[in-house]
Amino acid sequence: MGHTTLEMPKKKTGPKQRSKSLVLVVDDDRALRKGMIFLLKKEGYLTIEAHNGEKALEMVASQQPDLVLLDLMMPELNGMQVCQRLKQSEATRLIPIIMITAVNNQNEKIRAIDAGADDFLNKPVNLAEFRARTRSLLKMKHLNDLLDKADTVIAAMANAIEAKDKYTEGHNDRVSKLAVMLAERAGLSLMEIEQVRMGGILHDIGKIGIPDNVLNKQGPLNDEEFRMIASHPLKGKKILRPLRSLKEVGIIVLHHHERYDGRGYPEKLAGEEIPLFARIVAIADSFDAMTTDRPYRKALSLEKTMAEFQSGAGSAWDPTLVGLFIDTLQQRGVLNSNAKSSEV
Ligand SMILES: [Fe+2]
Ligand SMILES: [Fe+2]
Repeated sequence: MGHTTLEMPKKKTGPKQRSKSLVLVVDDDRALRKGMIFLLKKEGYLTIEAHNGEKALEMVASQQPDLVLLDLMMPELNGMQVCQRLKQSEATRLIPIIMITAVNNQNEKIRAIDAGADDFLNKPVNLAEFRARTRSLLKMKHLNDLLDKADTVIAAMANAIEAKDKYTEGHNDRVSKLAVMLAERAGLSLMEIEQVRMGGILHDIGKIGIPDNVLNKQGPLNDEEFRMIASHPLKGKKILRPLRSLKEVGIIVLHHHERYDGRGYPEKLAGEEIPLFARIVAIADSFDAMTTDRPYRKALSLEKTMAEFQSGAGSAWDPTLVGLFIDTLQQRGVLNSNAKSSEV
């Protein structure tokens, strides 16, 4: 098996590597600031402080804290404005903000929620409440950071497949886009569409475990080689198994080579036994495979591809989904011109 370089996508921002959580305390009242810092240190957190809004924004940008305790009433740039700016920026919107209000004023709280505040504390600060709120928001931030890392790993895995299989450059991305297009047309919810999107990107992840010489072989495959290639759905499912958040995606990966007539692999499922998301990705995968050059043949024309889909509806693929797919391609003008699949 050849070597594959994992290229981690570079991120402009992200949580810095620290063993303890970092909390930024923003208050123009020095005594209150010091009081809160004392409590936070006692909880074992790292702290930084700012005495006004301008300084707070600077510190968030340079230090990327895990939580911001923000005084509402400050001269010049007040807490509400700071909160708004942090929540509007892609780089800082996931940092939780606790707004500290001097009075129990309902209108102020509603305005702060509109500005994006995640929670509130009233002055004078109640110790138990202070502890509970900081803890729960730091926990949330930690979970978000983990998800962020999982996304990076997924992108790296998808890159790894393409690095191995030189004939399929851009394949995962195109399959993902076509599958999302069909999922939208089929009326799936936003969350379901997201599963389909990831399923498209990762459907061939199991190819990581197939030797390069088999994957890139020019001539016809012998039985042994075919068995190796045909093991990629199961291998892919096993790769994703430890990631609980990708359970549904694992199901797509396992079943993307099933056929509607039950003659596919690995489980020979038929008709609606094949999970819907996998039926969607199978159509997108076949379309892209037919319309791009492969080691053993040139790309088919769009007319030929459509003829294949029409004759395979009900045998290779779900006929209803094929109908929707062709219709959507027509609506988008793909089938009336010389447009390529990558333009979908
Ligand atoms: Fe595949
Ligand atoms: Fe594929």
